[in-house]
Amino acid sequence: MKGKVALITGASSGIGKATAKAFAEKGAHIVVAARRKDELDTLVASIEAMGGKASAIKTDVSVAKSVEQMIAHTIEVFGRLDYAINNAGIEGKLSTITDLSEDDWDQVLDINLKGTFLCMKYEAKAMLNLGFGGAIVNIGSVNSFLGFPTGAAYVTSKHGLIGLTTSVSAELAPKGIRVNLICPGITDTPMHHRLRGIVGDDLYDKGLLPTVHLQRIGRPEEVAKAIVFLCSDESSYISGSTLTVDGGLTLTM
Ligand SMILES: NC(=O)c1ccc[n+]([C@@H]2O[C@H](COP(=O)([O-])OP(=O)(O)OC[C@H]3O[C@@H](n4cnc5c(N)ncnc54)[C@H](OP(=O)(O)O)[C@@H]3O)[C@@H](O)[C@H]2O)c1
Repeated sequence: MKGKVALITGASSGIGKATAKAFAEKGAHIVVAARRKDELDTLVASIEAMGGKASAIKTDVSVAKSVEQMIAHTIEVFGRLDYAINNAGIEGKLSTITDLSEDDWDQVLDINLKGTFLCMKYEAKAMLNLGFGGAIVNIGSVNSFLGFPTGAAYVTSKHGLIGLTTSVSAELAPKGIRVNLICPGITDTPMHHRLRGIVGDDLYDKGLLPTVHLQRIGRPEEVAKAIVFLCSDESSYISGSTLTVDGGLTLTM
C-alpha cells in the first residue's frame, strides 16, 4: 500500500483511529476526518511520529458540502484516493418507538446512512475521475442483521448499509472499484462504553458475551485488520460482500 492514499471517516476515535494506524503501518498516506479536529491533529502527529504521512480535515459526513471539501482536501494534499473507509457513526438516543422523536431518528439516519451515501457519492466521483480504481469499505454492525428493542433508528441505519453496499458495488465494481461492508460485533471503543453506561454491564457480560464464540469483546485493531484486508489486493475477487468481525456473535443464539 506504499504511496496509496486511504481516507478514513470517524477517525477521531475507536475503530476509525485504529484503522488509520493500520493503514499507516502498511505505508499508505492517510486522510483522517471527523468533527473533533483536536483529536484528529493528535492522531496525525502520532502517525507522523511513526514515519507516516497523514492529514486531518474537520468533516461532518451528514453535510454534502463538508463531504465535498473532505474529498477536495484529499486530492489537494495527496493527489489521489485509493481506499475510502466510511466508518463515522453514532449510536444515537436509544428509545422505544413510541418515544423516538423525529429529530433523534433524523440525526442517526443522517449520519449513519445519508452520511455514508454522501461519502460514497463523492469518493466514487473522485476515484472514477482519477482512473486508478480503488476500494470502498463501509462500516455496518451486527445490527445490520439483528434488531434490538429501543434500537430502531440505529438498526435501520445499519440495515440500510447492506442495500447501499450491494447496489453501489454492482455499479462500481465493473469500473475497478470494489465496495464491501464490514459488520463489527461488540468492540472495545468509546461507543461501546457509552452503551454499557446506558444498558448496563449485565446485558453485555451475562447476556451477550456468552453468545460470542470467542467469549470476549473485540479490539478495534482486529476490525482494522479486516478493513485493510478488504482494501488490499488479497481481496481482489471480493465485492458487494459483508464480512462480520464479531467473534461468532451472529451465528448462534
Ligand atoms: N464499538 C462497537 O461495538 C461497534 C459495533 C458495531 C459497529 N460499530 C460501528 O463502528 C463505527 C465506529 O464506531 P466506534 O465504536 O469506533 O465509535 P466511536 O468511538 O464513538 O467513534 C465514532 C466516530 O464517528 C465520528 N462521527 C460521528 N458523527 C460524525 C459526523 N457527523 N461526521 C463525521 N464523523 C462523525 C466520531 O467523531 P467526531 O465525534 O469527532 O465527529 C468518531 O470518530 C460506527 O459506524 C459504529 O456504528 C461499532
